[in-house]
Amino acid sequence: MKIAVLPGDGIGTEIVAEAVKVLRALDLRFEMETAPVGGAAYEAQGHPLPEATLQLARQADAILFGAVGDWKYDKLERQLRPEQAILGLRKHLGLFANFRPAICYEQLTHASSLKPELVAGLDILIIRELTGDIYFGQPRGRRQAPDGHFPGAEEAFDTMRYTRPEIERIAHVAFQAARKRSRRVTSVDKANVLETFQLWKDVVTEVGKRYPDVALDHIYVDNAAMQLVKAPKKFDVVVTGNMFGDILSDEAAMLTGSIGMLPSASLNAGNQGLYEPSHGSAPDIAGQGVANPLATILSAAMMLRYSLNQPEAADRIESAVQHVLAQGLRTADIWSQGTTKVGTRQMGDAVVAAITSTK
Ligand code: NAI
Ligand code: MG
Repeated sequence: MKIAVLPGDGIGTEIVAEAVKVLRALDLRFEMETAPVGGAAYEAQGHPLPEATLQLARQADAILFGAVGDWKYDKLERQLRPEQAILGLRKHLGLFANFRPAICYEQLTHASSLKPELVAGLDILIIRELTGDIYFGQPRGRRQAPDGHFPGAEEAFDTMRYTRPEIERIAHVAFQAARKRSRRVTSVDKANVLETFQLWKDVVTEVGKRYPDVALDHIYVDNAAMQLVKAPKKFDVVVTGNMFGDILSDEAAMLTGSIGMLPSASLNAGNQGLYEPSHGSAPDIAGQGVANPLATILSAAMMLRYSLNQPEAADRIESAVQHVLAQGLRTADIWSQGTTKVGTRQMGDAVVAAITSTK
């Protein structure tokens, strides 16, 4: 098993170091090789996704990714910006299925912005299609409006597009994921007004007939946004397109307390995957040793489960994380009165200790 380790920028290096420590503590046999990505790669080699880094990612069974970006690169032309590295990896590796679990750990129930009773026991999985939709649809551009309310005025346009095979493959991913959970899929669309999402709804419905053991329902995206803060526990697996998934997964993330707790996985058709925390490089706290490494450590657990076929090892990491939370250890982002504030490294050490003690 080969893992490509791409720490990136800002807190990326700090949090990935802790996840690597945790992986080593499992005593499994894998090879880990590190390469620069994002701003770090731009500084060293003049490009955010150097060919050698891409090669390493291609050859690996899985990629552990930290975060990229910093305000100081904002003036660079778009192709050289650190964020292009993550878009490039998604594109080159065909990572079309983005898994974002939103789990509210018992010990963090009070860290959520919602009432504790609404989030206690929350465990939902948002599956976002990652390579289609309005972010990539052509044509797009700017021009003088040929018609409409203001003919001749400057206008900009994007195109929302999905093909049947793109919808089919993400639907299969969702139904299969639901089979390992409570066998319920909610498909989020806007079929009432968008042709793209009428096709989406039709195709998901057809695919669903092949999973008679999984219950399927459909909900419009505006109602989904409302239900997520009204009664989030009503959901189990949620599947949706790229843009709706972008927005709803950030909304769901906040139900759990801190973005520093949220892992993610992006998979391709071969179950190769890129695993990263849902947050960015947090330049405001980088270098201070205070970032929460748990999202990255939990991403490593997802990597073991989805790409490396080591579900027991994944369970061990997740139990260890719950154990350190139960011990009252908290990084600053999840700290509350009566708990013990620890730094990035101490948190990683505590997870390692919890793993080692259960060997
Ligand atoms: P961010 O997620 O980096 O930070 C948002 C806020 O959350 C900040 O106050 C930060 O301190 C806090 N935070 C984030 N992760 C944390 C952690 N592990 N522990 C404790 N606190 C944490 O988002 P922001 O500030 O919008 O973007 C910063 C940079 O990251 C930008 O350059 C952006 O483009 C990039 N970015 C990269 C992503 C990626 O690599 N996949 C994803 C999102 C943003
Ligand atoms: Mg987003």
